Amino acid sequence: MSQTPEIHKGLNGVVVDATAISKVNPETNSLLYRGYPVQDLAARCSFEEVAHLLLRGELPSADELGGFQQQERSLRALDERTKTLIDSLPTSAHPMDVVRTAVSQLGTFDHTLLEADGLTDPQLNDGRAMYLFAQLPAIVAYDQRRRHGQELVEPRADLGYSANFLHMTFGEEPSEVVERAFDVSMILYAEHSFNASTFTARVITSTLADMYSAVTGAIGALKGPLHGGANEAVMATFAEIGSADGVQAWLADALANKKKIMGFGHRVYKNGDSRVPTMKGVLDDLVAHFDRPDLGELYTALETEMGERKNIKPNLDYPAGPAYHLMGFDTQTFTPLFVASRVTGWCAHIMEQLASNALIRPLSEYTGPEQREVPGH
Ligand code: COA
Repeated sequence: MSQTPEIHKGLNGVVVDATAISKVNPETNSLLYRGYPVQDLAARCSFEEVAHLLLRGELPSADELGGFQQQERSLRALDERTKTLIDSLPTSAHPMDVVRTAVSQLGTFDHTLLEADGLTDPQLNDGRAMYLFAQLPAIVAYDQRRRHGQELVEPRADLGYSANFLHMTFGEEPSEVVERAFDVSMILYAEHSFNASTFTARVITSTLADMYSAVTGAIGALKGPLHGGANEAVMATFAEIGSADGVQAWLADALANKKKIMGFGHRVYKNGDSRVPTMKGVLDDLVAHFDRPDLGELYTALETEMGERKNIKPNLDYPAGPAYHLMGFDTQTFTPLFVASRVTGWCAHIMEQLASNALIRPLSEYTGPEQREVPGH
């Protein structure tokens, strides 16, 4: 009799490969991007610098940053064919489906994919990563605008990544508080080791499929409410609860019905998500800037009540949801914002996977019927 293999449901606790991109340390509640604590990066760097760190391996010198920014700014404009594609998609579709479809289309423009070694060439992949990084703000911003009957806003090469993203979405330059909060959120969302979407990207890459396929698949994985979709779900929860006074009754009922409270809990951190204090700091700034103490009170009431009843702490999506809401983003656009940031981490992982590739192909324990004969007709 063969021994029943041990099954690691959800790959919980399984180490599947090595990575030099980020380290999650649940014991010390730290998240390092290539060795730097993410809260220090958020305090001292711009998202462009962090994107350079993830994609190219180190924080940029002043010259390197200049070149990186110039490249990103030159690739920002939405391709006319992408605009036509987005216009053809129903506004009733979830924005994540629009972003996934548009990214997939970008792959069809890239003729270098057909060259010998075109799929795996590191320089070509660096260029593709920059293209995706630069195009996503245009895609996400335009999709939100067209849902409000608004025209496309052209990118502005005199603005940094976050200011341009906000300008392309809202048609005006952001205040300093909003730009800073947005930039911090982009830094915090950029990378998180072998999470579900990154692992999806690595699985697709391991078959030697192209970067656009891997990112398209990763977007699909990120859509789910157990992963990226949680930031949207937090806002739905806030809307349902209404105000801080309603928290106790709402939570008692939700927990009695065995509901998962969105924005709380984490597969890796059991003692609090290291990114939360930084994001909560900029949420506080936004609450003051927009004079919305009610939102701050609701936030605190639910966090406190969850802590007392379940001892479960918030994850990054909890402060990010209300922060994006205050900035003026539609709730359904929150997860596409996560895509725009995480594409940097995904592409870094895709390039790392290719640099030392092995096809990812696990085994399973079969529980269906034993071999049997197909009945005759
Ligand atoms: N609300 C209520 N209970 C929760 C919870 C939540 N958000 N997160 C975990 N729990 C409870 C589970 O019900 C379970 O309780 P039990 O042992 O009594 O059954 C226990 O905590 C362990 O949870 P489990 O689902 O096994 O943890 P996990 O590591 O598989 O799940 C998440 C991690 C993120 C999927 C989970 O916490 C969750 O669904 N959170 C809400 C979605 C979310 O915010 N996702 C974004 C993640 S960054």
